Amino acid sequence: MAKRTLTGTTLETLVSLSKRRGFVFQSSEIYGGLSSVWDYGPVGVELKRNVKDSWWKSMVRERDDVVGMDASILMHPDIWVASGHVDSFTDPLVECQDCHRRFREDKLEGGTCPNCGGVFGKPRQFNLMFKTFLGPVEDSAAVVYLRPETAQAIFVNFENVQTTSRKKIPFGIAQIGKSFRNEITPGNFTFRTREFEQMEMEFFCEPGTDDEWYDYWMNWSMDFYSSHGIRREKLRLRKHEPDELPHYSKASSDVEYVFPWGWDELETISNRTDFDLKAHAEKSGKDLSYFDDQQKKRYVPFVVEPAMGADRAALAFLADAYDEEGEGKDLRVVLRFHPDIAPYQVAVLPLSRNDRLVPTARRVYDVLRSHFNTQYDDSQSIGRRYRRQDEIGTPLCVTVDFQTVEEDDAVTIRNRDTMEQVREPIENLETAIRDQLDLMRKDSQG
Ligand code: GAP
Repeated sequence: MAKRTLTGTTLETLVSLSKRRGFVFQSSEIYGGLSSVWDYGPVGVELKRNVKDSWWKSMVRERDDVVGMDASILMHPDIWVASGHVDSFTDPLVECQDCHRRFREDKLEGGTCPNCGGVFGKPRQFNLMFKTFLGPVEDSAAVVYLRPETAQAIFVNFENVQTTSRKKIPFGIAQIGKSFRNEITPGNFTFRTREFEQMEMEFFCEPGTDDEWYDYWMNWSMDFYSSHGIRREKLRLRKHEPDELPHYSKASSDVEYVFPWGWDELETISNRTDFDLKAHAEKSGKDLSYFDDQQKKRYVPFVVEPAMGADRAALAFLADAYDEEGEGKDLRVVLRFHPDIAPYQVAVLPLSRNDRLVPTARRVYDVLRSHFNTQYDDSQSIGRRYRRQDEIGTPLCVTVDFQTVEEDDAVTIRNRDTMEQVREPIENLETAIRDQLDLMRKDSQG
């Protein structure tokens, strides 16, 4: 049975592990860094890709009622007028009159500046959308926005997607892509940044069925995280109070996770009603209603939206996987990722760089890499290489030694969680790895 103690840790430890092992680096580091902007390294990019691929597989490929799309980041500026973002996508900003630091007023505790104790000036509404110019002339007619959510591209393509996919309501459109918000107070590592990736799905349904779908998608999201390894007891749903609801929403709930600093938002599920389709129909002059040919009636669909952040989800998977065993020089740091989330599923480790081992080790690597995301590592001692693989959460290590080449054409498979080692003939290796990964998948359900 696999061990799953999962001690949890501080944000500082995760930031330092991320840098040391190539998950996440400070952006523009050699120039002194750019505040609250992060780059994913070779290991982190695999982690985030696995988070996105797992979501896409569960949300789109394994369902008949959701299709995907991938829209441009730049869109017609009227979209953001119709959606309400130009008028309402604001946070209250206050500036300290002494040190001139700026803060989000609604996130402050106490009425004085947390930096110097100074007094604030009058709050003003600060729009979070980034502006840029389309083409060479920088005038107001050329202003476009970097999208602050992926959702609007789905609403304005509703008719294109519905008619070409021939989907009938209820059905959804999913998208993964970058969004940008000029947050007043970004922070907590990759949790709140100004450039981030979202995984959003807009589910179009008949008015009157929206409450049921809202419940359905809340449960779906909770299941998504826990079936990919996040512990249930670290997740909860929190209903928004009426004064927190976004301008488009009839009801919203956050999936929250206990991050190292406490419970915080991982995802929001909202019942957006027919707000967006009606707003775009009115502004564009294009009818966005739907004709239900079974019921012979026409209506504007309601929309239920699970909106998840890929970076936030990756951070939650990282935080939840972190574990420590032993202490002092025997301390073993291990990331107990679910095998579908782990950056690499297998590492091939020749006992040394000895010429007699390398051809077999490369042969094993070539066999495995076509089935699993596999890393080849032949630097430093085998003990240090096991530690390194534990620290990036690789579920299985395959070791090629002299017995392999001299006696049995078999290798050792070491399990990250139990540290048990079994010997398997190379000809059975793919199946043996698949079986062990399946067991680890079952074992890491949250
Ligand atoms: N379309 C609805 C929408 O965008 P949201 O609650 O503003 O809703 C959805 O954002 C999710 O996107 C959040 O729950 C979070 O995971 C992610 N997200 C939002 N702002 C973010 C930021 N500044 N940095 C990182 N992720 C962010």
